[in-house]
Amino acid sequence: MKNLDELYQELARRNKQADEAGGASRIAKQHESGKKIARERIVELLDPGTFNELDKFVTHRNADFGMGDKHIAGDGVVAGYGKIDGRLVYVYAYDFTVFGGTLSRANANKIIKLQQLANKMGAPIIGLNDSGGARIQEGVQSLAGYAEIFHNNVRSSGVIPQITCIMGPCAGGAVYSPALTDFIVMVKDTSYMFVTGPDVIKAVTHEEVSKDELGGAITHNSKSGVAHFFADSEEQALMLIRELMSFLPVNNMEEPPVVPTTDDPLREDEALQTLVPADPNKPYDIKDLILSVVDDKNFLEVQPLFAKNIVVGFARMAGHSVGIVANQPAHLAGVLDIDASVKGARFIRFCDAFNIPIVTFVDVPGFLPGINQESNGIIKHGAKLLYAYSEATVPKIALITRKAYGGAYCVMSSKQVGADVNFAYPMAEIAVMGPEGAVNILYRSKINDDESRQGLIDEYREKFANPYRAAELGYVDEVIYPRQTRYKIIQALEMTRSKSLQNPPRKHGNISL
Ligand code: HXC
Repeated sequence: MKNLDELYQELARRNKQADEAGGASRIAKQHESGKKIARERIVELLDPGTFNELDKFVTHRNADFGMGDKHIAGDGVVAGYGKIDGRLVYVYAYDFTVFGGTLSRANANKIIKLQQLANKMGAPIIGLNDSGGARIQEGVQSLAGYAEIFHNNVRSSGVIPQITCIMGPCAGGAVYSPALTDFIVMVKDTSYMFVTGPDVIKAVTHEEVSKDELGGAITHNSKSGVAHFFADSEEQALMLIRELMSFLPVNNMEEPPVVPTTDDPLREDEALQTLVPADPNKPYDIKDLILSVVDDKNFLEVQPLFAKNIVVGFARMAGHSVGIVANQPAHLAGVLDIDASVKGARFIRFCDAFNIPIVTFVDVPGFLPGINQESNGIIKHGAKLLYAYSEATVPKIALITRKAYGGAYCVMSSKQVGADVNFAYPMAEIAVMGPEGAVNILYRSKINDDESRQGLIDEYREKFANPYRAAELGYVDEVIYPRQTRYKIIQALEMTRSKSLQNPPRKHGNISL
C-alpha cells in the first residue's frame, strides 16, 4: 500500500505531466509563432486564480496508426470553469501542442460535458480554437464528436451566450461550431478559418489564394462577415471577450449587469444641435451621436469593419446595457444593402434573446438599388432585418435623425413593427421617397422648366419631408431637440423596463433564410 506522501507525489507527477502538454519543444514552437498555449490563454482570460480544470487526466482510447502508445493527459483540450468579473463562465481551449489540438472522441467528450454543464447552470461558454480539426486516426469517432458539439451549440443558442476566439487554424467542418456561436473573435496573422484550404481550392477550381487572404482575420472581419471582432494580438482578443461579457447576462432568464456611472443621465449636449446638417445630402458620422448619448462614451462596436453602412454594438445608458443599431450616413449614405440587413438582423436577434433593449438611430435613404443586389436576394435578406425587428419583444426605442424613406422607414424600428417609443429630430424626413425622386415620378411629363420643378420639390418637402405628418398621426411620439437625445432615450428606456411581451406560441418562426 502506498503511503500518503507517495499518493500526493503521484498526483503532483500526473499534474506536472499534464501541464507539460506536448512537451518543451512544441511549446517553444508555439511561442515562436506568436501564440500562447491553451492554459496560458485561459489564465489570461479569467479572473486571477479562478480557473478550475476538469478532466485533466483524460486520454484518448484509440490504438490505430501508432496511437496505442501515445497518450498525453488532457488529450489536446484544456477545459474547466472560472470567473469573468466575478461571474461564472465555462471555457475550453484546444491545445495545439498535443496532437495539433485535433478533436478525438475523448476530448470531444470533455467539450460536450462542459456544454452540458453550462446549459444546466445557465452560464456562458467560451471556446479558444487552435486545432488541426478532426483527428485523422479516429475517423468517424472524431466526426461524431464534432456533430455532438454542433448539436449542443444549437441547443444552447439563445439560452446562454456562446463566444469563440480563433487563435490558430480552424479548418473543414470544424468551422461550424464557431459559426453556430454568437460571436467570433479572430487574431491578426495567426488565425484562419476555411471550409476548404488553398490546396484543395487550387486542385478543384485552379484558383490560387493564400491562407490569410482566404480565411484570415481581415477577410472574415471585413469581407465575409463571418467574424465579429478583429484583434491585433491574443492579449487584445482575450480582453475583448472580457469586455463583451460585461454587457451580457449569463443566460436568457437573467438581466445584463448594471454598471453604475457618474455620467449624468440628464446630461445635454449642445454639440448635437449642429451634428446633423440642414442639407439632407451632406454626410455626418452617426458614431458621434452614439458616443455623445451613451454612458462615458463607451461603445463596443460589433463587426466594425463589415457593412459599415450600418453600425451595431453594445453600450450602457444610465448603467443598463443597450444594443445600438444605427444607419451610417458617412458610408454609402447609410443605405440598406444585403450585408447591412444580415448584420443588423443577427445583432437584433442576439439582443432580443438576451434581454438587451434595442436603441435604433435611423437615417436611411432606402434599400440599395442595383442588379447585383436584386439578383443576390436583397428581398429575402432585407426581410431578415424586418423579421428581426418585428419579432423582437425587448424594449425598442427609435430616433429618426434625418431620412426615413420608403420600405426602410418600415423596417428600421417603426412604430408599426412594434417599437415602443419613436422620436424624431426636427430635420427628419419621413416619406415614400426623397423630394427629387417623387417629383420626377409624379410630374415627369408635366414639367419642363427648372423653376416650376423646384417649386414642386419645395412643396413636397414642406408637405412630406418633415417629421410633423408622422407626429400628427402618432407614428412619431415626440419631436425632440438633438441636445436632449441622451435623457429622452434614458427616460424611454426606464419607462419600458417592465415590458413583458410574448410572441404567439409556435414551434418556431420561419425567418427568410
Ligand atoms: C491528426 C494532425 C492533424 C489531423 C495536424 N496533426 N492535423 N494529427 N489529425 N487532422 C498533427 C501533425 O501530424 C503534427 O503532429 C501536429 O499535429 C502539428 O501539425 P503540423 O502539421 O506539424 O503543424 P503546422 O505546420 O503548424 O500545420 C498545422 C496545420 C496542418 C495547418 C493544421 O497540420 C494541417 O493542415 N493539418 C490538417 C488539417 C485538416 O485538413 N484537418 C481536417 C479538416 S476536416 P506531430 O506529432 O508531428 O507534432 C475536419 C472535419 C471536421 O476537421 C468535421 C466536422 C463535420
